[in-house]
Amino acid sequence: MEKIRMGVIGLGNRGRALTNCVILPARDVDITAVCDVYDDRVDAAAAEIKDKKGKEPFRTCSAGELLARTDVDAVLISCAWEDHIPLAVEAMKAGKAVALEVGGAYSIEDCFELVRTCEETRTPFMFMENCCFDRYELLATAMARHGLFGRVVHCEGAYSHDLREEVGYGDINRHYRLRNYINRNLENYPTHDLGPIAKLLGINRGNRMTGLVCGSTGSFGLHEYVCEKPELTYLKEVKFAQGDIFHTIITCENGETVLLRLDTTLPRFYTRNFTVRGTKGLYEMNTNSVFFDYMDGEKYWEPIDTYREIIDNAREYEEKYLPEMWKKVTPEQLKAGHGGMDWFEFDAFFTALREGGEMPVDVYDAAAWMAISCLSEQSIKNNGSYVEIPDFTRGKYKTRPLKDVTAL
Ligand SMILES: NC(=O)c1ccc[n+]([C@@H]2O[C@H](COP(=O)([O-])OP(=O)(O)OC[C@H]3O[C@@H](n4cnc5c(N)ncnc54)[C@H](O)[C@@H]3O)[C@@H](O)[C@H]2O)c1
Repeated sequence: MEKIRMGVIGLGNRGRALTNCVILPARDVDITAVCDVYDDRVDAAAAEIKDKKGKEPFRTCSAGELLARTDVDAVLISCAWEDHIPLAVEAMKAGKAVALEVGGAYSIEDCFELVRTCEETRTPFMFMENCCFDRYELLATAMARHGLFGRVVHCEGAYSHDLREEVGYGDINRHYRLRNYINRNLENYPTHDLGPIAKLLGINRGNRMTGLVCGSTGSFGLHEYVCEKPELTYLKEVKFAQGDIFHTIITCENGETVLLRLDTTLPRFYTRNFTVRGTKGLYEMNTNSVFFDYMDGEKYWEPIDTYREIIDNAREYEEKYLPEMWKKVTPEQLKAGHGGMDWFEFDAFFTALREGGEMPVDVYDAAAWMAISCLSEQSIKNNGSYVEIPDFTRGKYKTRPLKDVTAL
C-alpha cells in the first residue's frame, strides 16, 4: 500500500487532536473521510483538513456510510467507549484496517466478538494504547529485558488524572464520560497503566492474566464538585455510581501480580505510577528512579529517605537502554501529542499496515486489557470477589513469542 487513505470516526477532543497533529503530518497518509454524530464537528474537521491539505474529505454523520466507501483503507475509531467494539467489528467486516482508541469493554462477549472477527476477516487491527510507546515505560521494559531487575515479580500502574471538569461538564461539552460516571461503577480506563505492564510481563505471549479482584471507594468527589459550580447545580440531585478510587489486583499464570489504581474524581497531579519490582531491583516512574540490591558494587544501605537521594537516577541508564527512536526523537514528534508517544504509536500502525507486518498491540491485547473493565464491575458488585479472566488467545499464548513494540 503506497498511500494510506484514512477515515476518522469520532471527531471530539481526541479525534481532532490526532487528525491535526499526527495523521495529517504523517508521510503518505491522506484523510479521505470523516464522521461524527454531530454535524458541526464533521464540518469543522473537514474544513481544517481542506485548509491544511487542499482537498476536502467525504463527510458524514453515519459510521456505516463511511465504512462503505471504497476510498477508505483504514479507520481511526476515536468515538465514545460504548461504540468502540461494535464499530471495530463493523469496520473489520467491511475490510477496513482498524486503529481503535482506548477504553474499557462493556461485556466479555464483546471482547470475544472482537477477537473472532479479527481472526475470521484477517483485517489488520491495532489497539492504540499510546502509553506502550512512552519513554519511561520503554526504558524500564528494556532494563527488565536485560535482566537488571532480576526476576520481575510485581508491577503497579495507575490512571491518576483529575477529570472532574471533563466529567462534570459532559452535558455542556457533549462528552461521553458523564453518562458513564452516572450509571456505572468500575475500573473504566485500565489500559494506559495495564498496557505497558502487560507487554513487560509477556501477557498473551507465554503468560496470561488469570483473575482479578477490585474494590472501590464510594462516590464523593464529583458530587462536591458539581455542587460548587453554579452552571452544574442541575446535577446536584444526581447520584453518581462511579466511586472515586479503585484498586484492582490481577494475578498472572507465571506468578506475578499487577496492581492498578483508577483515580479520576479527586484533586491530584497526573501520574501513571508505572512501577516494576524484581528480585534484584525496582523502577518507579513517579521519581523516575531505579533501586538495586547492589548499587556501585556495594550492598546499598537504606536510610529512611533513600528515595530523595535517587530521584531521576534512571536517566543514567538512558544512554544504554533507551530505545533508539526516543534517542532520535525530533521536536515535531515531541509536539505531536502526549510528549511524542502518539507519533510513535501511529508510525508503528502505518508501518505495519504498509509492510503487512504484525501489529505491535494486537486484538488479543485489546480484548484482554479492555475486559478488565467489565470484570472489575462484576467483582465490585460481588463485594470484591475473585473473577476469572478468560484466555482470549484460546491457548495460543503458550507458544506466542515475546514481542515488544520496538527493539529493546
Ligand atoms: N490515548 C489517549 O491518550 C486518549 C486521550 C483521550 C481520549 N482517548 C480516547 O479517545 C476516545 C474519544 O475521547 P474524547 O475525549 O475525544 O471524547 P469526545 O466525547 O470529545 O469525542 C468523541 C466523539 O465521538 C463521537 N461519536 C460517538 N459515537 C459515535 C458514533 N457511533 N459514530 C460517530 N461518532 C461518534 C461523539 O459525537 C464525539 O464527538 C475515547 O475512547 C477515549 O478513551 C484516548
